Amino acid sequence: MPKSHRIAVIPGDGIGPEVVDEALRVLERVASMHGFGIQPTRYPYGAEHYLKTREILPDAAFSEIRGHDAILLGAIGDPRLEIGLLEFGIIAKLRFDLDLFVNLRPVRLYAEHLCPLKDVKPEQVDFVVVRENTEDAYAGMRGFFKKGTPDEIATQEILFTRKGVERAVRYAFELARKRGKRKKLTLIDKANAIRAMDLWTRTFAEVGAEYPDIARDHQYIDAACMYVVREPAQYDTVVTSNMFGDIFTDLAAMIQGGLGIAASGNLHPGRVSLFEPIHGSAPKYTGRGVANPIATVMAVAMMLDYLGEGRAARHIEDAVADLLRSRRLPSLGTDSGFSTRKIGDLVIEALDQVSAPA
Ligand SMILES: NC(=O)c1ccc[n+]([C@@H]2O[C@H](COP(=O)([O-])OP(=O)(O)OC[C@H]3O[C@@H](n4cnc5c(N)ncnc54)[C@H](O)[C@@H]3O)[C@@H](O)[C@H]2O)c1
Repeated sequence: MPKSHRIAVIPGDGIGPEVVDEALRVLERVASMHGFGIQPTRYPYGAEHYLKTREILPDAAFSEIRGHDAILLGAIGDPRLEIGLLEFGIIAKLRFDLDLFVNLRPVRLYAEHLCPLKDVKPEQVDFVVVRENTEDAYAGMRGFFKKGTPDEIATQEILFTRKGVERAVRYAFELARKRGKRKKLTLIDKANAIRAMDLWTRTFAEVGAEYPDIARDHQYIDAACMYVVREPAQYDTVVTSNMFGDIFTDLAAMIQGGLGIAASGNLHPGRVSLFEPIHGSAPKYTGRGVANPIATVMAVAMMLDYLGEGRAARHIEDAVADLLRSRRLPSLGTDSGFSTRKIGDLVIEALDQVSAPA
């Protein structure tokens, strides 16, 4: 019996369902080429479902979802609803309650014409960001006092735990070793102003002592935003906190061609993990068929790698790289001139054209 992977699919809001449809077509094709099965179960959670039922993510559905081998998410967020309601109730709930402590974001430029920076070559942009994914301001410890009055006070705690920081940092050192490229790990923080980040400084030094083969580097987040534009080639593996990782990786995504290609894995090694494009629901483009599905296709590649289907994952990456190097897509934005469906077709054609990796 060929292996079959059970995937919980949450297409979500806005452009989410459109890009997920194409990614699933690519997944089905690569599965049939590599001889494994896929059993997707679709879940309706998102704005439409909420507006009809007032349900965000019920406990019974959460338990069922966690029983799958992996989760594929499109995007969550709808301007008709209170800001953050579904983002917190669905994305943050899955990240926190499944304890998906690493948000892994590869940043790779496949073709020079996609990079907005002058004279930057593909070999100069190849790094990966490990964003801590369960703490920081996102932990939701917040409050308002005298709301709506001239004396209003609003607070939100930035929270780091030794355990949370250490497991992200350790994962990043292991990854730098496994990548085996520059063998370098850069810590990005703001310990000079956010003194609680001293915990990151100390943990990085202590864990780093166990990895003498990995060179350690450090940057403050403000400088890192400048360096990643000026000299992206300096990075190999990066580790950072939840909020800085959120911001830094959107900037990094632009260097690899934009949100139309940037993918992420929300991981707890050894447990059910969640894969998604890093973009949101892009409400302005919903239903117009112009969103680029490649970010979700690349999230599928990350998911397959995680599920032990490394050859199929590399096959998708090679196909996407081949398509992008062909320059048929002038950009990865909504202005590419190609529909979401057509880009899905092009990736599938490329899968047939490139030879499957050994
Ligand atoms: N993980 C998630 O589901 C997630 C992540 C970020 C934002 N959000 C939510 O999404 C909603 C919209 O947020 P936003 O507008 O700040 O960010 P967004 O990522 O949805 O869109 C920003 C812009 O990026 C471009 N873009 C995004 N995806 C693209 C794609 N696939 N192809 C081509 N271009 C693409 C578009 O120009 C778009 O206007 C909000 O409700 C936000 O909270 C959800």
